[in-house]
Amino acid sequence: MIYGKLFYRGEFVEAGVEVEEGRIKRIGKLVKGRKVNGIILPAGIDVHVHFRDFEEREKETIETGSLSALHGGICLVVDQPNTRPVVDNAETYFRRMEIAEKRSYVDYALNLALTNKNSERIAEEVEKIRKKYFLPAIGEVFLQNDKKELEIGYETLKKLNLNAKVTIHAEDPRFVERGFPNFLFRKKEAEIFAVEECEKIGNFHFCHLSTREAVERVSKGSFEVAPHHILLSVEDYNRLGDLVNVNPPLRQKSDADWLLRNFNRIQILASDHAPHTLEDKKNGSAGFPGVETTYPIFVELARRGFVSFRDLVEKIATNPAKVFGFRDYGEIEVGKFANFAVFDLKEVREIRAEDLHSLCGWTPYEGFKAVFPVQVYLRGEEVLQSQSRAGKVFGVSEV
Ligand code: DOR
Ligand code: ZN
Ligand code: ZN
Repeated sequence: MIYGKLFYRGEFVEAGVEVEEGRIKRIGKLVKGRKVNGIILPAGIDVHVHFRDFEEREKETIETGSLSALHGGICLVVDQPNTRPVVDNAETYFRRMEIAEKRSYVDYALNLALTNKNSERIAEEVEKIRKKYFLPAIGEVFLQNDKKELEIGYETLKKLNLNAKVTIHAEDPRFVERGFPNFLFRKKEAEIFAVEECEKIGNFHFCHLSTREAVERVSKGSFEVAPHHILLSVEDYNRLGDLVNVNPPLRQKSDADWLLRNFNRIQILASDHAPHTLEDKKNGSAGFPGVETTYPIFVELARRGFVSFRDLVEKIATNPAKVFGFRDYGEIEVGKFANFAVFDLKEVREIRAEDLHSLCGWTPYEGFKAVFPVQVYLRGEEVLQSQSRAGKVFGVSEV
């Protein structure tokens, strides 16, 4: 039982929450139990992380990535399958879920890859996985590598009748060249065109949209935006140097500003947490870590009035749960899991890479102001201080 300033049905109320067996049993004017200092928000859901592991344990592991998530107020992650080896079959999927079961600090779900190699038997693999686990989606499907892959990708997407959500990394390779910094070589058109084509084919979820034009072209599908496309732009190049590459690339300041001004139109805020070692970054690897900094930076932006708490909670908790079907998550509501992140708005801090928990050891947000959670509750248990590995993976019986 905790009580304090609680975010409930779109506003803050002074109230208490009673928890039973990990779920919220009652919300009301109860002032019993532990008084919480700060605001109590639903813990976040990050539907787009790359926790590496397997043969890339020097970049990140499920253990370090999920610890980073926990410290960022995130209670559930959806990991992406572009690992080494790729998660393109049920066997590899099961192997990864077993690691998560042992090591994850937060709740964990995993997407399945769709590639040239497994497109013929993807339906079988989906079926096998679904006997055991809740599969959030197929993807992120990379259309960007080469033309052949793009065509097979589009063709397969047309034929697919899997009754599964498909998430797309929307960049058309015909508008992509190689070079450093990559924002000079990966054109906006790549994203806009890919979204347009996919929208003609069907109903997809678009990962990390970075342009106004692409956002405005989504009508059937759903989409997410990554924090770096809102907070950073090509103007950060001098500061970021070797670290600057990310796909899709950083855009003009005016694009980023448009996304911030139109934050209420964004469906989902997801980090695309993509850690690489500093050595890899020197060699041009694309991707930024972000699972630990997204919620804290946006809580600070909400504190200062740049976005509303209502919008923030919707984009980082409620909508991800709705769009991906995590029905026990995303709101402080009777019957849902008691997953809370508590933020003390007086504790504004500057981000330092050395304070973060990702194995990669750097952040593109060095020096940015943020409010990190002082407590995180996972199914009613206070887990931030104890750092207990309370995370669970989804067996089908539980959903
Ligand atoms: O910047 C990126 N990094 N974009 C991607 O699509 C993949 C990701 C990664 O896995 O490193
Ligand atoms: Zn991507
Ligand atoms: Zn990604």
